[in-house]
Amino acid sequence: MQDLDKIRAEALAAVAAAADLDALEAARVAALGKKGSISALMATLGRMDAEARKTAGAELNRLKDEVAEAIASAKAALEAKALDQRLARERIDVTLPVRPETTGRVHPIAQVMEEMTAIFAQMGFEVAEGPDIEDDFHNFTALNIPAEHPARQMHDTFYFGERPDGSRHLLRTHTSPVQIRTMLNTAPPIRIIAPGRTYRCDSDMTHTPMFHQIEGLVIDRTTHMGHLKGCLMEFVTTFFEVDEVPVRFRPSFFPFTEPSAEVDIGCSREGGELKIGPGKGWLEIGGSGMVHPNVLRACGIDPDEYQGFAFGMGVERMAMLKYGIPDLRTFFESDLRWLKHYGFLPLDVPTLSGGLTR
Ligand code: PHE
Repeated sequence: MQDLDKIRAEALAAVAAAADLDALEAARVAALGKKGSISALMATLGRMDAEARKTAGAELNRLKDEVAEAIASAKAALEAKALDQRLARERIDVTLPVRPETTGRVHPIAQVMEEMTAIFAQMGFEVAEGPDIEDDFHNFTALNIPAEHPARQMHDTFYFGERPDGSRHLLRTHTSPVQIRTMLNTAPPIRIIAPGRTYRCDSDMTHTPMFHQIEGLVIDRTTHMGHLKGCLMEFVTTFFEVDEVPVRFRPSFFPFTEPSAEVDIGCSREGGELKIGPGKGWLEIGGSGMVHPNVLRACGIDPDEYQGFAFGMGVERMAMLKYGIPDLRTFFESDLRWLKHYGFLPLDVPTLSGGLTR
C-alpha cells in the first residue's frame, strides 16, 4: 500500500488542475474509472489475507471517498463558472433605447379600431370575429333579409361564382353576420363587438369598395333601448375625449332591427372648424336598433325570453371625425407621407388608463 499517498496526491492534483468539465471527467476516469488507479488498487484486495484486506480496504474506501468528494466540489465550481460565463455572454441590455430611426406608423384605421375595442372592452364587451367571405344565410337570410328582399340590392354585394348547388358566396356587406354567428354559437347573455372589413361594390368620393365597421350586440332578458342609447353615449364621449357629446336617435329602417334608429352626434362648425360636442349641427355615425324577433328566432333564441340591441358604425367615418382626415380615399392610397402625418407611433398603444391618444 505504499502507492496510496502517491496515488492520492496524483488524483487530487489532477482534479485541482482540471480547467473544465471535460478535464475533470478525465481525472475522474483516471482515478475512479474501471481501469483507474484507485480501482486497480481495489482489485489487489482479493489477493490479501483477511486481516490485511480489512485495513487496506478501509483505507482505500477513505481514499475513494476523498477523491470523489474533491471531484464533486470541483464539478460544482466549474458548473457555476460555466453558468456565469453563459449569463455574461447572453446578457441583454434592457436599458437600450428604442432604435431612434423607427419610421413605421400604425394606420389610423388600426389605431381607431384599437381605441374602440379598448372602450367597449372596459364596458364588458368581448371581441368576436367572422369571415370576410360569407354565405347568403349569415349575411342576409338570418338577418331577416329573405331572397328578393329589396335590401339585398341596396347592399351592392360582391358575389363569387355559382357553386354546384346553385348558391354563391359573397364578400360580407356589413359586420352584422357576426351577430348571427355569435348567437348561433353562444347562449345568452351576449355582449360582443365585432370590428372588421366589409365590402360593397361602390366607389366614389365617399365610398370605397372595402371599408371597416364595428358591430355591437347585446342580448339579455331585460335589455332595452335605453341601454343602447346609454352605451353609445358613454362610447362617444370616451372616444372623442370630450366632456359632452349629444346623441340623437333618428327613426330608421333595418330589416334586422325593430325599432331601428340612425345614430347622430352633436357638432359645431363655427369658423369653418368641425368640433364634436354641443352645437347646432348633427353628424350620422351609424345604425342601431333592437334585434328583430325573427333574427333571434333564426338563431334559436326565444324572443319571448330574450331581447337585445345591436349597432353598427363606420370606422373610417369615426377616424375622419376624430383626427380631422378630410378625404376617405386617402386611407387606402398607401401614401407614405400621408401615413407619416396621420399615422401613430407603434408604441402608443391606446388604453383607457394610459389615454387613448397622446
Ligand atoms: N348593418 C347595418 C349597415 O351596415 C348597420 C346596423 C348594424 C344597423 C346593427 C342596425 C344594427 O348599414
